[in-house]
Amino acid sequence: MNKKTHFGFKEVQESEKSKHVGDVFTSVSKNYDIMNDAMSFGMHRLWKKILVELASVGDDDVILDIASGTGDISKIISKEYPNTSIYMSDINYEMLSEGRDRAINESFNHNCSFCQLSGEILPFRDNAFDLITVGFGLRNFTNKERGLEEMRRCLKKEGKLLILEFSKPINPIFSKIYDWYSFNILPRLGSILANDSDSYQYLAESIRMHPDQEHLKKMIIESGFKEAKFYNLLNGIVAIHIGSND
Ligand SMILES: C[S@@+](CC[C@H](N)C(=O)[O-])C[C@H]1O[C@@H](n2cnc3c(N)ncnc32)[C@H](O)[C@@H]1O
Repeated sequence: MNKKTHFGFKEVQESEKSKHVGDVFTSVSKNYDIMNDAMSFGMHRLWKKILVELASVGDDDVILDIASGTGDISKIISKEYPNTSIYMSDINYEMLSEGRDRAINESFNHNCSFCQLSGEILPFRDNAFDLITVGFGLRNFTNKERGLEEMRRCLKKEGKLLILEFSKPINPIFSKIYDWYSFNILPRLGSILANDSDSYQYLAESIRMHPDQEHLKKMIIESGFKEAKFYNLLNGIVAIHIGSND
């Protein structure tokens, strides 16, 4: 039976969602970094630095960066911990290629490998990684539960999962302003800077459909992690979730 899921506010067949998501990221790949800076006023850089701080990376860690896109998180880890082995991975060829080109151009390719794969079916053995990171990627998965289970399977017992994702603002007034910004300004910015308002309309809608902090924490536990906690950033617009077996 063909089950339904959400693609932003639209209902689509589960079997079709990854194609729709793929179209969005193929379309935004060339302007992805400029748009990220413009939309978040550069704050995404700080959020990613905080994620790496919280990850307590070990010098020789083997790391899987899922939905690595243009490679912001991998770049921070590679520069700070040059002896780690990082697998940059993304389902989308164009995004992964942007990441690979950037790794070469900005000299962080010495400890990075590049894998085109879905975070929902990881082609790795059990207990392979010390750390798995997912930056603004989980929201786009068709089956988030399956993705989380795969991440747990591929992590070593003492390994950690860190997820950076949009979440739910705590303050109701702030939430209203954020809603107005998301649905009025984001698609316009997308149209002006990237000639693509639809993809940024999807961004706003997909954020609203994503599980909030407590719900995602529960999903992490249900996928088999012993411990899950989260840190809110910018009043909960963004949250960092950590799954571990400590
Ligand atoms: C918003 S970008 C995030 C890129 C980067 N991690 C960052 O934080 O800037 C989301 C990425 O998730 C990728 N993606 C979407 N669904 C995926 C899946 N099922 N498995 C792996 N990557 C996926 C997209 O191709 C895209 O590159």
